[in-house]
Amino acid sequence: MCGIIGYIGKNNTIDVLLNGLYALEYRGYDSSGIAINVDNKISLIRSVGRVSKLEEKIKSLNIKDGVYGIAHTRWATNGETNINNAHPHKVGRVTIVHNGIIENANILKEKLVKEGYHFNSDTDSEVVAALLDYKLRDDNILDSIELLKKELVGSYALGIIIDESDELYALRKDSPLLIGIGDSGNFIASDITAIIKYTSDYILLDSGDIAVLKANSYEIYNGNKKINKEVLKSTSSNIDNDKNGYNHHMLKEIMDEPQVISNLLDRYNNSRNWEEVDLSKYKSIDIVACGSAMYAGLVGQVLLEEYANIKTSVYAASEYRYKKKIYNDKTLVILISQSGETADTIAAMREVKKLGIDTLAIVNNSNSTIAREVDRKILTEAGVEVAVATTKAYILQVCVLSLISYVTSYKKGLLKDGVSYSDFYKLPSLIDLVIKNTDKYREVVSMLSKSESCFFIGRGIDYAICMEGSLKLKEISYIHSEAYQAGELKHGTISLIEKGIPVIAIITDKTLKEKTLSNLREVEARGAESIVITTEELEDNDKHLKIVIKSANRFLDSMLAVCVLQLLAYYVALDRGCDIDKPRNLAKSVTVE
Ligand code: AGP
Repeated sequence: MCGIIGYIGKNNTIDVLLNGLYALEYRGYDSSGIAINVDNKISLIRSVGRVSKLEEKIKSLNIKDGVYGIAHTRWATNGETNINNAHPHKVGRVTIVHNGIIENANILKEKLVKEGYHFNSDTDSEVVAALLDYKLRDDNILDSIELLKKELVGSYALGIIIDESDELYALRKDSPLLIGIGDSGNFIASDITAIIKYTSDYILLDSGDIAVLKANSYEIYNGNKKINKEVLKSTSSNIDNDKNGYNHHMLKEIMDEPQVISNLLDRYNNSRNWEEVDLSKYKSIDIVACGSAMYAGLVGQVLLEEYANIKTSVYAASEYRYKKKIYNDKTLVILISQSGETADTIAAMREVKKLGIDTLAIVNNSNSTIAREVDRKILTEAGVEVAVATTKAYILQVCVLSLISYVTSYKKGLLKDGVSYSDFYKLPSLIDLVIKNTDKYREVVSMLSKSESCFFIGRGIDYAICMEGSLKLKEISYIHSEAYQAGELKHGTISLIEKGIPVIAIITDKTLKEKTLSNLREVEARGAESIVITTEELEDNDKHLKIVIKSANRFLDSMLAVCVLQLLAYYVALDRGCDIDKPRNLAKSVTVE
């Protein structure tokens, strides 16, 4: 997704816009740019790469400050990463920044070319600017924007400057957008973190709203009618850009895990709060999410079926939204999302709500679309996660699912293994132990760091851990990695095993230990370098590299193992000199389909 910030007021416009871009850089950082009104002329400065490159360029050009401006940081959807495709885009009288995807852009572009428009970029966003400029030939600004809305198909959040006008315009359809109301001026922003330094008062625009901002006033219209909207107050703190002495946000956020887990456990230490996590009335659960959130769901699936005896399925949101839904009044759909703004997960949630199926979200961002629209939510409260690769938010998603399984099992009188709630409090100190004992990782890190490909194998809950461990490694170290059910590898994919390829086996489930070890021997026999992540009680005597952790119980061990894999991924990426907090091609939340 992309980040949008706009400002009109008495502060230094360039400073406000750059500050906002730095706060929004987690949303995408392929390129960035600003457009400011200087003496009634629009200056456009754009740069490929990180926001710091744009700041250097602005300084080198000695750009004079302006009375208002808009700015953008891009995660490429239409058109590769280059200066022409960077936002803002200016066509005729219109300058815009855009987050979203215009699905009918090519059709509109053909029409506009026939009207004499030329395009410098491959983006759908430039088409939006041209279409509005075309509409402005015959209508005033508000009517032209209303006509624009009628012709655009797809999702958009737009910040707009019109030559010779002394206002900023903002509108959205699906992609999130808010306006900030401050003493020093008014703002447009993709999310509150971009402007929290200046104001905590904001208005969430709804699809169809058009905001018109002046330095000390604002108006909101919908369908040519002026409307009033509630001014909300954000509780978000300024993004904690401090790394607390760690080299990367990702490492700091892994180090935060014991504390944020303790905070979550405290919330449910009083069984009066158990109603929130008791799903005993449901007979079937569909867990719907994307990426790491989906892999947290895979862990939850094993625990919910095993302990709560509820049929549980896990789906990628991008698939679920289109699939036939089989449900009844005892079905629950759980949506998992750190950002609460992932387009596919939002779309799946809206599909399910239309069918009247109960929804529960496990979400980190309390101001997000999912948090606002879902029937019920459990906030993970991991705090703001700056690193694009999720760690503490993921582990809290698993912890919530583990608590749900435990409480639901307890309520249904199915609890076994003699686990009590107090046992969950072993987790923070055991995670701390994992974090503090990474000196044993050196040999594994050096082997993985030199590899271009590797496999993670596991069975049952260990396979779910493999999925997240594999994603962590590939998304920050760029090593091609594949997670495979240990028993499935021999049915074809084993042909990829050759001398020296690392295969990492996760073994925390004692009932499946021997099976996985025999799968490991199958690949060792073909030259693989094997690594085992296991618990003290399951440690085997085979001669392969091992990372052994203290275990607790089945509700907790998956989180301990995944913490090892988060740290392994971190140190391998560090060894390979990768950009750990902002890996190439990624964005913290993908608000496009
Ligand atoms: C995070 O490490 C992943 N890069 C990514 O898969 C993420 O989990 C996924 O995009 C879902 O995001 P969400 O939790 O904000 O919905």
